[in-house]
Amino acid sequence: MVGSGPELDPDDLPDGLVVADGLGRVVCFNRAAARLTGVSAEAALGSELEDVLQLEDLDGRRWWQLTDPYGGLATRTRQPERNLLLPGGREVLVSARYVRTARCGPVERLVIALRGTEARRRTERSHAELIATVAHELRSPLTSVKGFTATLLAKWERFTDGQKRLMLETVDADADRVTRLIAELLDISRIDAGRLELRKQVVDLAAAVHRHVERKVATGIPEERFDVRVNEPLTVLWADPDKVDQVLGNLLENAVRHGEGTVTIEVAPAKEVVEAPVWERSGTPPRIVEGTAVTVSDEGSGIPEESMPRVFTRFWRGSKRGGTGLGLYIVKGIVEAHGGSISVDRAPGGGARFRFILPAGVPDFML
Ligand SMILES: Nc1ncnc2c1ncn2[C@@H]1O[C@H](COP(=O)(O)OP(=O)(O)OP(=O)(O)O)[C@@H](O)[C@H]1O
Ligand SMILES: [Mg+2]
Repeated sequence: MVGSGPELDPDDLPDGLVVADGLGRVVCFNRAAARLTGVSAEAALGSELEDVLQLEDLDGRRWWQLTDPYGGLATRTRQPERNLLLPGGREVLVSARYVRTARCGPVERLVIALRGTEARRRTERSHAELIATVAHELRSPLTSVKGFTATLLAKWERFTDGQKRLMLETVDADADRVTRLIAELLDISRIDAGRLELRKQVVDLAAAVHRHVERKVATGIPEERFDVRVNEPLTVLWADPDKVDQVLGNLLENAVRHGEGTVTIEVAPAKEVVEAPVWERSGTPPRIVEGTAVTVSDEGSGIPEESMPRVFTRFWRGSKRGGTGLGLYIVKGIVEAHGGSISVDRAPGGGARFRFILPAGVPDFML
């Protein structure tokens, strides 16, 4: 066994574990195996493996006859994971390892891992849902692009210049929507695959916030709607400036579009206890993150308490003013890729309050 400490109890394993000896008799049958197969450990132990695990492949062929672990090729050391059926048609994922006394010697032990297919089914379902949503999101702007261009081509002479301009503006906006959606989907696939590339530089977060506010004001939003408060001194931030811009851009856009009243943006040094992101959570203890926190709050109707856990999920949108509902998912992915964290709650004024913290990082050459 690798490592020290108390010996591993097979009953603690999340997957089913079945071990047979050199004669094909079951010598270990853990709790998960009993749960998956419906056979008790008492009944299984000492019995013939072939009787205990009556596995068939999807074409109805008996699995043990097919693989013949004790009599088959003496160089074989394993069976890769396969989707097999238990009596009654229940699906299990099965993989096996042949432990031999010597290279090419007889099989001394057969170690079989069993896994339920529910988790995989769930992922498959969520992929199918994602594809359906993406297809739908792409289709509506494209339907409008196609509709307007077809109408213009067929009846060009009948429209006034003003009408034509209006239609072309709609087509233009819809084409932008598709482009943006595709860019967001690419970001999501990088985030999900853990391949979000960060090109880190020294980032002045306060300056970035001011820049975003100026940009919003330039697009016609009254300056009074923004209240920027910077709590100096801030720590040096080593981050990807484009990605930080994406985060600020979405949070400010959300506050303006989904919220109301004054949007208050606070930038301040912070030290927080941060839980590891979900995909790293097994066994990863919370960390203390020291860096800069940005809080964006507004005075709108906020996000209902019961929806708060869902705002960072893909495609969730609470109001009709929503876009695609991908913004906050990407924001969270970017913040976590930087080792930071983001949360939402209610602002004192009643609106939504988003707060993210990015760890202060000092690049090697500055040490
Ligand atoms: N400041 C806010 N006040 C009220 N509701 C908000 C606020 N920010 C976000 N929301 C709600 O959360 C939903 C998800 O936000 P998110 O940024 O992920 O998507 P979106 O803004 O709808 O679309 P996208 O950002 O992809 O264009 C929004 O549709 C909105 O209902
Ligand atoms: Mg948004």
